[in-house]
Amino acid sequence: MKITKAVIPAAGLGTRVLPATKNMPKEMFPVVDKPTIQYIVEEAVAAGITDILIITNRGKSLIADHFDASPELEAILEKSGKTDLLNTVREISNLANITFIRQKEMKGLGHAVLKAKSFVGNEPFAVLYGDGVIISKTPAIKQLIDCYGEYGEGVVGVKKVLEKDIHKYGSLKVENLHDNVFKCTDMKEKPQTKEEVLSLYSILDRCVLPPEICDILEHTKPGIGGEIQLTDAMREIAVTKGMTAVEFEGTRYDMGNKFGILQAQIEVGLTHPETSELLKNYIKNLAKTL
Ligand code: UTP
Repeated sequence: MKITKAVIPAAGLGTRVLPATKNMPKEMFPVVDKPTIQYIVEEAVAAGITDILIITNRGKSLIADHFDASPELEAILEKSGKTDLLNTVREISNLANITFIRQKEMKGLGHAVLKAKSFVGNEPFAVLYGDGVIISKTPAIKQLIDCYGEYGEGVVGVKKVLEKDIHKYGSLKVENLHDNVFKCTDMKEKPQTKEEVLSLYSILDRCVLPPEICDILEHTKPGIGGEIQLTDAMREIAVTKGMTAVEFEGTRYDMGNKFGILQAQIEVGLTHPETSELLKNYIKNLAKTL
């Protein structure tokens, strides 16, 4: 079945990057000149997604405004003959069919995804976390969608994380199938003890889920941190039917984390045609003083 729907949870409070997120959604933080969430929507569109539901909250109207038309700005750019910028601005509001729903209480990622129940209906769907930018040759979510086509099971995008960091992520029990593809038969969100660590493979920001996940989420009890964890619901599928894990090609930047934000600016800035030379020279000179 072709996957055409994506859900982008973007209602989190972003407490790790306060005070920036007091009034500004982290999903709107720019990476050089483009908001985080636009990278994510563009990744989904490049993977064949046509319908996107963004989960927001009361403080995040800026996200909806970004994907709306902006007649005043467009008129000014048109009048001043700035055609390239005009096209850039217009393209944003035509990227996909984007709709929004609000998560009234921030009860966790699983609770946010459950808001998509009627949007997804009976179809498998992609989930792209609103604060995770992934720069890759093939869109990361396409790598997962291709795998869904191959095995017909829910798919999680994974990378290995450092042992000292695994307690901040979900840990997966995996067995290699071929190349970068694994069978996943168990998972544990934020393992707190060595015994709970199943491997250093961890879910990073992308998955493709069967519609049954919503039925499971309806009875998923709050887990670690008192939040309804998507990992706890996915675990039910992993231990019964099994899921597939793909170690995706690409670099992931966590825009909900101070260091991730800095890495994204520097690495993407080094590839951006308008900033690469300037930034390279700047870093070389700066490095001499460190
Ligand atoms: P995170 O745990 O990284 O987001 O969730 P957070 O809650 O904003 O993080 P803190 O406050 O810094 O610890 C991963 C994704 O799930 C969304 C977030 O917006 C992010 O894209 N999310 C999380 C929701 O949509 N709703 C929630 O209740 C929690």
